[in-house]
Amino acid sequence: MNARLENKKTLIRTDSLRVTFRNARVFSLFSKYLFNRHLNRHLVNALDGVSFSLKYGERLGIVGESGSGKSTLIHALAKLIPATSGSIFVNEDDVTHMAWRDFRPYRKLVQIIFQDFCNTLNPRMTLEEIMLEPLNIRFKNVPKTWKTSKIKSLFDVVMLSSSLLSRYPDQLSGGQRQRVSIARTLAMEPKLLICDEIVSALDVSVQAQILNLLKSLNRDQGIAILFISHDIAVTEYLCENMMVMKDGRILEYGSSEAICGDPQHPYTKKLISCVPSIHIG
Ligand SMILES: Nc1ncnc2c1ncn2[C@@H]1O[C@H](COP(=O)(O)OP(=O)(O)OP(=O)(O)O)[C@@H](O)[C@H]1O
Ligand SMILES: [Mg+2]
Repeated sequence: MNARLENKKTLIRTDSLRVTFRNARVFSLFSKYLFNRHLNRHLVNALDGVSFSLKYGERLGIVGESGSGKSTLIHALAKLIPATSGSIFVNEDDVTHMAWRDFRPYRKLVQIIFQDFCNTLNPRMTLEEIMLEPLNIRFKNVPKTWKTSKIKSLFDVVMLSSSLLSRYPDQLSGGQRQRVSIARTLAMEPKLLICDEIVSALDVSVQAQILNLLKSLNRDQGIAILFISHDIAVTEYLCENMMVMKDGRILEYGSSEAICGDPQHPYTKKLISCVPSIHIG
């Protein structure tokens, strides 16, 4: 265990978590006709017995190819989809079957930036209006002037100029939009930021800026990071620990240095061989 995390409490963990989908994609007329409908009952084990834990202040990466179950895992953690079996614990409380109303205080600890983050910014709202939304939820009875100065300080943290606040999302670059998504989630004062493939659409230099921003949020504010990516090099750069997923299972789980320095599984070796050697700094 990393010395920096040794005495930290566990923030979130899963025990043999399983999520099964009835695969709607084989519902096509073609398969119906050819296979006489029996494929309609085909089940996909998107998560197949996943057990992991993440401590306060930890940076943990989840790496794997498309379809390995990365997004399913974080959707299950946020209870956006139900667990088929197994358990999810937040602060060591079992939240797996908790009603949404009771789960709300736990949900506040965790914020997610989704894979299609560009679509999560309302194109008809200015950045100021976009930033006010979470603040109005988190700080209900607080004067507008306080919220305005809070927005400016959040923009400072993500290194965006407040002069952009009157702009609309489509008047920003991809990197700037990504910073707005991060600033929005920080408004909720999370203990854990889950980032689902948030840098893969950005060019390498902008990727590096966002990764360094996440590192500084972790270092300066102690926010834990759960970083999902198909790029093992980027994940190694950001995260002290990582797990490698394939077909809904964890193949390797440990320190990024150990996994990338001495990969045990051929699949991990393949992931490493797939990335061009890039230098981020
Ligand atoms: N709503 C759904 N209904 C049926 N199958 C689904 C659903 N969501 C995901 N799956 C299946 O579950 C598996 C895991 O998908 P998931 O989206 O978690 O993968 P991922 O690792 O996030 O992939 P990517 O890197 O492409 O985002 C895939 O086989 C996918 O087709
Ligand atoms: Mg995904």
